[in-house]
Amino acid sequence: MIGVFDSGIGGLTVLQWIRQRLPQANLLYLADQAYAPYGAKDSDLLQQRCDQIADWLIEQGCTVLVVACNTATAHCIDALRDRLTVDIIGVEPGIKPAALGTRSGAIGILATENTLASSRYQQLASRFNPNTRVVNQPCSGLADAIEQGPDTGSIDTILAGCTAAMTEAGVDRVVLGCTHYPLVQDRLQRLLGAGVQLIDTGEAIAGEVARRAGVAALGEGKTRLLTTGSRARLQHLIGTYPQLSDHFQANQCETAPELSVQSQTSGSSSA
Ligand code: DGL
Repeated sequence: MIGVFDSGIGGLTVLQWIRQRLPQANLLYLADQAYAPYGAKDSDLLQQRCDQIADWLIEQGCTVLVVACNTATAHCIDALRDRLTVDIIGVEPGIKPAALGTRSGAIGILATENTLASSRYQQLASRFNPNTRVVNQPCSGLADAIEQGPDTGSIDTILAGCTAAMTEAGVDRVVLGCTHYPLVQDRLQRLLGAGVQLIDTGEAIAGEVARRAGVAALGEGKTRLLTTGSRARLQHLIGTYPQLSDHFQANQCETAPELSVQSQTSGSSSA
């Protein structure tokens, strides 16, 4: 079984590619909606959540884990890999395909504050800086607004604010450096214009999972979607984003009450 997690519904944009690539695999998805968003939370709290979720997924029988969250990958994957023996695959902003593909010489990266501030991301970005202008754009509050549903008014305001500097800089490639952002891809494309290519690494990650899954790819093709928050809310969100309702059903949703409670020692929920 393959375990996949994110702060919320964002990782489902990766899960749907894994589902397509590995039709027989049993997939267990955990949306940590009781603690979402992760984008501006304290790193210690993020590590506690990632440790607790990874241990739980392994207890459920997962032998491969996918951290379907750029923020959690940037801050927590090294410690997870040091501590655990299962194969752990993460996600990172697709700077490389953007830098290799740009004709204008300028690319934009949309991600959370925590992802852009991480040393892991800064090392990745530094490899491309000499030849390419990289416009780093933190999208404060965007993942949280997406978690409230597609009709949330602030989504368009935040997107307009996030894309202004990109257009000004003449970028022709924009990286979706948070797994929530493919859920607003059409709106972003309209704001940026047809000449800008959006880069989402979900399909490439699924390819990597397929290469490394081994026996974890063999099963009955079951998908279970668990949340540390409200099952009704997860069901509602899956029904309202077409990118999710095309691939998942309400009856696949459950709660994971054993993961919902944890003393919140630090961080805030106002990303
Ligand atoms: N979807 C996550 C990411 O890729 C987390 C966003 C958030 O919770 O702020 O970064």
